[in-house]
Amino acid sequence: RKNKVCVVGSINMDLAVNAERMPEQGETILGEGFAMSPGGKGANQAVAAARMGAEVEMIGAVGDDSFGRLLVSGLRDEGIRTEGVRTMPGTATGTATIILSGGDNRIIVAPGANQQVSPELVRTQKEKIAGSSVLLLQLEIPIEAVTAAAEIASDHHVPIILNPAPYQKVPGELVEAASYITPNVVEDMAMRQESFYSRIEHKLILTKGEEGAAYSAKGKMETIPSYQVDVKDTTGAGDTFNGVLAARLAAGESIPDAVAASNAAAALSVTKTGAQAGMPTRAELEQFLKKE
Ligand code: RIB
Repeated sequence: RKNKVCVVGSINMDLAVNAERMPEQGETILGEGFAMSPGGKGANQAVAAARMGAEVEMIGAVGDDSFGRLLVSGLRDEGIRTEGVRTMPGTATGTATIILSGGDNRIIVAPGANQQVSPELVRTQKEKIAGSSVLLLQLEIPIEAVTAAAEIASDHHVPIILNPAPYQKVPGELVEAASYITPNVVEDMAMRQESFYSRIEHKLILTKGEEGAAYSAKGKMETIPSYQVDVKDTTGAGDTFNGVLAARLAAGESIPDAVAASNAAAALSVTKTGAQAGMPTRAELEQFLKKE
């Protein structure tokens, strides 16, 4: 069981528009160009892991529409196995409406079929989870489905990476089951309010945007600084980090090395527009690390 990453999570079509500024309430403004590109935290993380050379299984759902078909064939083109992606009749594929302005972004997700990823659906894919080296989870599908996936992984001693994004209250048993928890600074602040926080601190791997990433080592946080890069679009930077982390841990790398690689990959990912466009392949990442 090596190099196998299983992702249970969301699949969206990202609809992004660029504007000089964010519109005010009730205001209509003209933007500057539109881009439709594959997204969703689950799918993004699956792609980041696949480009690192991991064998990736995706479990999730799309609608019975053209977005769904495009997204599933896009995942297959990345070499990702999609037998665990269900097409939901009469449902729309998830979308994310993204406004980009001056390096900032605002996103509204319409979950669509992602909302129908149920514990039952997850359990039908039990073998895929049980047979993986790492299970990678986010919070963009119903929490019951996330918890069901974590239970299967725990039963089969599969390490779990939990990316608590977008943040919602997480059940205690889910954070207990996770081997690593990867919040960004905002999600970390939210988790600090929970009574379980002191029990999970040693599992934390924090993404800190332009300040890099930090992981817990011998009771304190060890920070790895980020890189000076030309920032075009930060959408998907966290997903790149998580996907690469999963792939590297699945390959047997140590935490410090895996976090360093994920941090570098996330820096590279922001240099291109679109969540998945800037995600590096393993060769691209190695070349970048050699140059730095
Ligand atoms: O993390 C970025 C992702 O969040 C986007 O691709 C969008 O689909 C939303 O799910």
